[in-house]
Order: sequence, then C-alpha cells, then structure tokens
Amino acid sequence: MKRIRGLVSIALLLAGSAFAQPKKLGRLDREGHAWWQHAVFYEIYPRSFADSNNDGLGDLNGITAHMDYLKKLGVDALWITPCLPSPQVDFGYDVADYTDIEPIYGTLADFDRLVAQGRKRQIRVVLDFVMNHTSDQHPWFLKSKSSRTDEYRDWYIWRDGKQADPNAPVSSGPLNANVPTGEQPPNNWTSIFGGPAWKYDSTTQQWFYHFFDPAQPDLNWRNPRVQDAMFDAARFWFNRGVAGFRLDAVDTLFEDPELRDNPPYFAPNQLDVGGNPFPGALPRNDAYGMPEQRRLYNDNLSENHAVLQRLRRVADQYGAVLIGETWTDNIAELKRYYGDGAAGEIQLPMDFLFANVNRISAPEFRRQVALVESSGGWPVYLFSNHDITRAYNRYGGVHPSDEVAKLLAALLLTLRGTPILYYGEEIGMENRDPVSREEVRDPIGVRGWPLEKGRDGERTPMQWTAGQNAGFTGGKPWLPVAANYQTHNVSSEEQDPNSILNFYRAAIRLRHRDPALREGVYVPLNPEDPNVMAYIRQYRGRAVLIALNMSPETQTVSFDLSKQGYGSRAKLRGLLVSNASREQMLSSVSLQAYGVLIGEVVK
Ligand code: NOJ
Repeated sequence: MKRIRGLVSIALLLAGSAFAQPKKLGRLDREGHAWWQHAVFYEIYPRSFADSNNDGLGDLNGITAHMDYLKKLGVDALWITPCLPSPQVDFGYDVADYTDIEPIYGTLADFDRLVAQGRKRQIRVVLDFVMNHTSDQHPWFLKSKSSRTDEYRDWYIWRDGKQADPNAPVSSGPLNANVPTGEQPPNNWTSIFGGPAWKYDSTTQQWFYHFFDPAQPDLNWRNPRVQDAMFDAARFWFNRGVAGFRLDAVDTLFEDPELRDNPPYFAPNQLDVGGNPFPGALPRNDAYGMPEQRRLYNDNLSENHAVLQRLRRVADQYGAVLIGETWTDNIAELKRYYGDGAAGEIQLPMDFLFANVNRISAPEFRRQVALVESSGGWPVYLFSNHDITRAYNRYGGVHPSDEVAKLLAALLLTLRGTPILYYGEEIGMENRDPVSREEVRDPIGVRGWPLEKGRDGERTPMQWTAGQNAGFTGGKPWLPVAANYQTHNVSSEEQDPNSILNFYRAAIRLRHRDPALREGVYVPLNPEDPNVMAYIRQYRGRAVLIALNMSPETQTVSFDLSKQGYGSRAKLRGLLVSNASREQMLSSVSLQAYGVLIGEVVK
C-alpha cells in the first residue's frame, strides 16, 4: 500500500511538472480528459494585438505586456497565428524559415519570454504550423526552382504545361507572365486566392503548384524528406515549450498524382433530384472570375490522414495538442480527422459548419451541435477567426447589439467541448472592411476587389482604450481601427459591470469552476422550440440548464426534467444571466430579447 501511494505521488509530481518539462504526456483528470479539453483557447493575430515599439505593427512583446489581461479574462492557451520569418505576402502564412521569429515581431528571446510569462500564469502557447506550403523565398524553394535536377526539385510540385486546347478558356492570366505561346497549366485547378493554381517559371520552363498565392508554393508531402524536415520543425518548437499547433490548411496537403482536372461545381439549386446539373446549367464564377470547381482532386485526399497520424505521434511525445484547420462539408469527413480507431490524429479538428450557421437560429445551432455531438470526438467550437467576418456583425446584422454578443458567449462557453475565442470578440469588436481598393492589404482583397474585399475587416487593431488608435500603437496602425472603439474597448468595459467583457470573464470563470459545465453530458431540451435553444449539462447529480433566447422578442418557456429526476417544483438558481431574472421556476422561464439564463437546477 505504502509503495503504491509513493508511486502515485511520484506520478502526480511528474504530471504536475509536465507543463514545465515538455517531454511528458499531459495529466488526465478523473474523467480521462487532457488539459486541452478544458482549456479556453484565445486566438491572437500578432500583427494586430499590441504594438510595443510604435512601428504600427503588433509584436510578441506587445502580447507579453498584456499577459495579465489574458489571465484575468481566464484563457488557458493562446494560439498565435504565424510569427516566423516571412516576406508577409500573406502576413506570415508564407514562411521563409521554420525555426526563427520574424524580426517585425521580435526575436527568439522575446518568444521564450512570452512562453515563460505565459507559463507563470498557467497560459500555454500554441503556434500556427503552416504545413501545406512555404514562402517562395524559403531556401528550399529557391533551391528547388534553381534547376530541374536540384536535390530540392521534388520538394515542391513541378510539372510540364499542356498544349493549349483551342476550345478551352485561356487560363494563363497576368499571374503567369512569359508563358510560351500555346502552353497552358498542367490542369484546370484554380487557386482559392484567385486565378490558376499553377505558375510558370521561365528559368526551368515548368509550372509549380500553389493552392493559395503564387508566393506560397505547395510542398510535396509525398516526398519523405519533406515530411522529415517538417516534423523536425515541429520538434524545434515543442522543445521550446510550445504546447501544440494549429495546423494550417491540412486538408490540402496532398494532390492527385495524376493531376486529373476538377469537375465544375454546381450550387444545390442547379441540380435535379438525381444530383445532376439541369441542362444548360453553368458553374458560377468565383470572386476572381474563374468558374467554380468541386475540388475533388486537390482537397481532402485520404493520403492526408497518414501524415497527420505521424505528426500526432510526435505531438504525443510532448503532451501537445493539434488543432486542425479542417474545412469539411459534413460530419463524416470531420470524423476522419479525429483518427480511426487506435490511430489518433487531430485532437481538435475545427468544425466550421458551426461557425457557418450565419444567423441567430435556435433550430440551426441545435442541429449543428447534435451533428458534432454525434461524431463521437471531442467537440471544438468557434465563431470567428482571422478569415471569417467577426461574429459581432455576422450575427448582429445591421444593428449589432451587446445582447447578441453575450448570447454568443453563453453558447460558446457552455457547450461540451473546447471553445476558441478570437481576439476582440470578448469586447464586441466589429468588422471594418476597407472602403477602397487602395486601402486593402490582404492579397485576396487586392485581387478580388470589389466582389472579394479580403480579410482586413476582421484583423483590425485590438481596442484597448478610447484614445488614439484605440491604444494599439503610438505610431500609424497598419490597418485603421474599427468604428466602435470608443465604446467597445478594454479600458471602458472594465469599468462597466454589464459590459461584454465582464460577461465573458464571468462565463469563463463559471466554466472553469462548475464540474457540470466542464465534464457534463449535453442533453438538448425542447427540440421543437423555434426561438429558445436550451440544454442541460449534467454531471454526477448536478445539472446546469442553459436557456438562450435567439429571438428579438420576450419568450416564456417551460421545461420538463422529470426524466432527469427533477419534479415539477424544481427551480433554476441563476449562475449567470443577461436580459433575464436570476431565480425562475422550471415551469415558466422568461427571457427578454436575446436573453440568457445559465442556472443550476435545484429540487
Ligand atoms: C488558412 C489561413 O487561416 C489563412 O489566413 C491563410 O491565408 C491560408 N491558410 C494560407 O496559409
């Protein structure tokens, strides 16, 4: 007995220090959950968070300087979007060196300090891992393009062009200067950043493939040396104390070896019941003027999974988490990213279908949560990120309101699973799209204007104060601040007990402390209600009920929890409310417009 107790306490000691010593598997709680299952993640776009040297761009020291703010907010892990050396064509998603820090953001020493300051406050740091492509300025690519026989040639995807089909639309535009007359790209694939996905290189007279910008050539993941080099890069950061990665564009790692042409994409209303396009139907054009395609041969290929499973084995050696940028169309695809059976893959594949419920709708959110719950994996939820219009506007419509922002917070922070917040969401930052093409910084906005305005709108400077530049910089901010900074900023909202910020803080605190919110099962209630989304989270005899009025009118609803063992006299004792009173009877719960009631069910 004594011996066993001794072993247990050594095990606990080791587990407790797992955070400080990266080479340990993380501690599990008594439900078998790992740290990342109960962590609240917070995404930081470093260019826009806080500028410590007044050059108009955020930096790592700016993040470190606000670590106490993040601690007070209650977040457990930061996901920092790319901050490695990069020509910044796609603001860091074009990496030129996988083992250093981009000078505009700081140095490796600044990074180590950031990690250490986070660790002091139990805040972990997760980096973005740009796996699909590098910058065209990465030494690997410079070597690869230097000659057809260079040892790095096969690190990227090079092919001969095709002879032009005189009937096919010309697909070599301004992006492909110097293309010999009559030559076309190897196939019809288009880049999601606009135009063909191939760029002609006149030195070696071949084309290279780029799913994104031409300055972001795709790596050839079929080459084992590429895999080894990238896994070494991952180890470099794990050994530096990074707690995991958000994996960029993981669904596009592999391409069809035969490079077959993609078929056209038809919207559902262009298809008959058999799924065939109506006679004469034409695919729509994308924002850049190219016909839309079904990316059958260059997206979500099954080969992705073996590589991700290999990466997971590396991550497991460090107790690290992998969060996937997994754009899937359905739950079956999402499910595959969790990994089949014993072969674990991505612990947190993001479900963008939830973020794609683009309106406040109880039936739609209920349906999406039910689907995610049915996947059998640990859910991960988010509303916004640096590629998606901010939730404050998307859900708030023309007249966004703080009540809607609080309702979203309540939903995100009470579901079973891991929530990811986007910087500024906690203060109700709004989108600020560029007003002219000259103002646009994002390459996709430059190329797609005006149909595609780009993503600058959701990347504006963090609003710290009501002062100049919202307190983000003493210089000229790289993007203008959003219009609502005078009312929606950290400093003003800290003073206001009813602010969005204080609601987020309270909701995160509650989530951390309440075992039902942390561990409890999700049980949907009143499945037919068109306005109020309600559910309980139940754990060991404790039930917390969440009722969210997703309509602009007052709603009164009743709940029957007899199946859960609560009689007709059961009450709700409010733990956190917005536009609703705290103490209510289960038989008659009233919520004003967009009201929220999170309450313990008491007999
Ligand atoms: C997804 C990232 O979220 C996006 O911002 C980036 O432009 C592309 N991947 C390319 O890396």
